[in-house]
Amino acid sequence: MAPGIGDQVSFPVLYANRSSYTLLLGAMLLGRVSVALVALGGSQVVLSEPTDQNDYTLVQPVYKPLDLGSVKPLGWFKDQLELEAQGLSGNMFDFYRFVHDSRYIGGSTEYSALDEASPYWFNGLVPLAFGLGDERIRGQVKYYLDYILDHQQEDGWIGFETTQATRGLWARCLLLLGLIQYAEADPTQTERIVDAMHRYVVLAHDMLKNNYTGLLVHDGDIFDTAGFGVGRTHEMHIPLQWLLERYPRNNSQIIWETMDLMIEGGVLWGADWRTFWTDEAYPKVLYDTTPYDLSWVFIHGVNMAEGLRYTLSLYRNSGDPALKAQTRKAVDLLTSYHRSLAGTIIGDEYISDLNPSRGAELCIAAEVMFSAAYIYQYLGDNDLADWAEQTAFNAFPVSVSADWWSHQYVQQENQPWSRNLTTDELWWDVGSYSNVFGLEPNYPCCTVNHPQAYPKFLANSFATTSSGGLAHLFLVPGTAAAQLGDDNAVFVTANTTYPFGHTIAYTISAASSFDLYVRIPTWAGADSTVSSSGSADPAPVSPDERGLQRIAVPAGESTASVQLTAEPRVVERANGTAAVYYGALLYALAIPHDTASFSPINYRSGAVLPANTTDPSGRTRDYRLTPQSGTVWNIAIDPRQIEVVRTGAAEEKEEEGSLPNPIWELGAPPVELRVAAVEIDWPIVMDTAADPGTFNVTARGEPFAARFVPYGSSKLHMALLPVLELDEVDLKG
Ligand SMILES: *[C@@H]1O[C@H](CO)[C@@H](O)[C@H](O)[C@H]1NC(C)=O
Ligand SMILES: *[C@@H]1O[C@H](CO)[C@@H](O)[C@H](O)[C@H]1NC(C)=O
Ligand SMILES: *[C@@H]1O[C@H](CO)[C@@H](O)[C@H](O)[C@H]1NC(C)=O
Ligand SMILES: *[C@@H]1O[C@H](CO)[C@@H](O)[C@H](O)[C@H]1NC(C)=O
Ligand SMILES: *[C@@H]1O[C@H](CO)[C@@H](O)[C@H](O)[C@H]1NC(C)=O
Ligand SMILES: *[C@@H]1O[C@H](CO)[C@@H](O)[C@H](O)[C@H]1NC(C)=O
Ligand SMILES: *[C@@H]1O[C@H](CO)[C@@H](O)[C@H](O)[C@H]1NC(C)=O
Repeated sequence: MAPGIGDQVSFPVLYANRSSYTLLLGAMLLGRVSVALVALGGSQVVLSEPTDQNDYTLVQPVYKPLDLGSVKPLGWFKDQLELEAQGLSGNMFDFYRFVHDSRYIGGSTEYSALDEASPYWFNGLVPLAFGLGDERIRGQVKYYLDYILDHQQEDGWIGFETTQATRGLWARCLLLLGLIQYAEADPTQTERIVDAMHRYVVLAHDMLKNNYTGLLVHDGDIFDTAGFGVGRTHEMHIPLQWLLERYPRNNSQIIWETMDLMIEGGVLWGADWRTFWTDEAYPKVLYDTTPYDLSWVFIHGVNMAEGLRYTLSLYRNSGDPALKAQTRKAVDLLTSYHRSLAGTIIGDEYISDLNPSRGAELCIAAEVMFSAAYIYQYLGDNDLADWAEQTAFNAFPVSVSADWWSHQYVQQENQPWSRNLTTDELWWDVGSYSNVFGLEPNYPCCTVNHPQAYPKFLANSFATTSSGGLAHLFLVPGTAAAQLGDDNAVFVTANTTYPFGHTIAYTISAASSFDLYVRIPTWAGADSTVSSSGSADPAPVSPDERGLQRIAVPAGESTASVQLTAEPRVVERANGTAAVYYGALLYALAIPHDTASFSPINYRSGAVLPANTTDPSGRTRDYRLTPQSGTVWNIAIDPRQIEVVRTGAAEEKEEEGSLPNPIWELGAPPVELRVAAVEIDWPIVMDTAADPGTFNVTARGEPFAARFVPYGSSKLHMALLPVLELDEVDLKG
């Protein structure tokens, strides 16, 4: 008999009402409670055995990304990746204890028994190194690669752990994700990486066959006492599917079974995301008083951002259309109940509702960007690409300082200040220091995991289509080198200030003719146009049902361009509140701020960090941002009155094809909005702005033209505001 949840396996400590549950979580995070596992029995559930013994084929994507390194950044996006390389991401290897002194490279520091810190870092720095083509960063990842491959253990284990108690498979998923990117980008390393992966997968298979060793915690095991790894079992799929497709050698069956065993182990533990992404199980709101009966694993924001990939990972192996449909269902449920205006998941660290003062962890934005891009590649639904862009241009940059040296643990959509709050009562499991910009303002996972976001977004910005063409999907500036069919080498340059401007100019060279596709975002106006070398006048765009505009490209050198049109869009939320978008950007009330900086503190003890884990040049600082005196943050708006304003100096630069650098700084983006507004009484609750829609709106004084700017550029901002009807305001003055 196959064991299932609720019969042979029960997890009493994981199911509880919220009050005892919160205590439990606190205890688990401190590592005091280990989750007891009961007998699992010997039988195994076979999830997706191929019908034909030798048929290990996988579902193919609608849009297949190019190998890492084929897409290079230009313009403002290149500026961003350079800032990333010059900032904390590209320097922590030299001093940050969880990377510099990681046990994976002979050091002695890990932040938890998950041993995940430097694997996260590697997964993000490999695409930065090869996307940007930065030699210094390449040196860092090459050092790490050499170390972990040269120290692969005799039995195939990758990493430093030598005992069953400490060997958890989870962090290996991150290492493998880094390794497959490396193998794609640098052919000189491919063979040794693939060799190492095969040796590892044979060992992982043995371990999993042996009562899910390394995945489920047995007596005395310490590698995953809370259940993070076992809640993310599908993360082994992407690297193993890559290995299966490209370098299966004679090992397909072992690779395939390893994926299945990972999932089975997670199912036994109670972490089957197929039971969660359903109308019935999905918790629409989770307040103190909400009764629910779910493992904590499912309501953890980062887990959810990663868990979006679960059903799709299984779908690739089985081809079961129900799993594809459920992937869409997962996206829709999350979007309806917990997706923020800026594109991330509101979860601090657990989901609650859409209150814009609740926190959204930076890791969530990074993982949402990766998930949205990945799901888009298989489902092809245009709104998924909009989602990836929404997160990339709003939720992600708002939580990272313009110079890429500091970041927040959580952002708030309504964030009138960024400082140590007097209480953390509003947030579920996040400290009062968490919206401070700093080195590790809370758990260090965000310090080591945020680097992946932009480099992977770049790598996924171009893809080949199943019809044999090349598509520009995320419309950031860049170049793509691709081989189409057997012998058509094409090179496309996309020159644009998108999402700040809406024109994309292409120059193309190709050995033979081919189809270039440009994604037309769902918000683009019907009067958007396309032109190409051959056509005399711009023609209205005519995207296909997936939102792609086809451009027939001749052999040789040619040009093309797409001009998108947009109008400000008002999105209404509950109880008379609204937010404003223009193009791919969320706009928010700008709150100019004063900055005070401090020595960075230890996320756990609150003590000032010793110099041996901070930047020797003093660039790692923690920052308190407070509104400048006289600045109003407490407003209601009349969204019937909005004016688009192009700012002077920035506009001149934009005409030259460049933007101010850094761009994610107040005043840098060349487009702003003016919105009719009035000051209101806005209560402060738990040391932050009360949830709009829960208090009565009383106007104070005369209406005025409020300055709205791209959300990502204003670290202090108010994005969700009460709506009032106001007298006409001069928005141009
Ligand atoms: C498998 O592991 C569980 C949890 O440690 C243990 O209770 C059970 O006895 C093991 N089963 C076998 C067949 O070894
Ligand atoms: C696969 O196995 C066959 C037969 O045992 C052998 O000839 C072949 O070299 C193997 N291929 C690889 C890639 O290991
Ligand atoms: C932050 O504020 C809390 C109270 O909310 C206090 O206990 C803690 O010491 C403060 N931390 C720092 C670094 O000031
Ligand atoms: C850094 O300094 C702290 C305290 O000053 C010390 O405990 C720790 O071992 C040092 N770490 C390294 C990697 O040198
Ligand atoms: C992009 O376009 C601008 C304006 O036409 C031009 O000045 C610039 O050189 C172009 N950049 C690239 C990389 O083609
Ligand atoms: C809307 O207002 C009602 C009544 O004041 C309140 O119970 C509810 O929580 C509010 N909902 C939101 C989403 O603000
Ligand atoms: C809002 O005003 C109405 C009418 O004065 C009053 O009944 C209600 O209690 C007020 N609500 C809040 C949340 O203050």
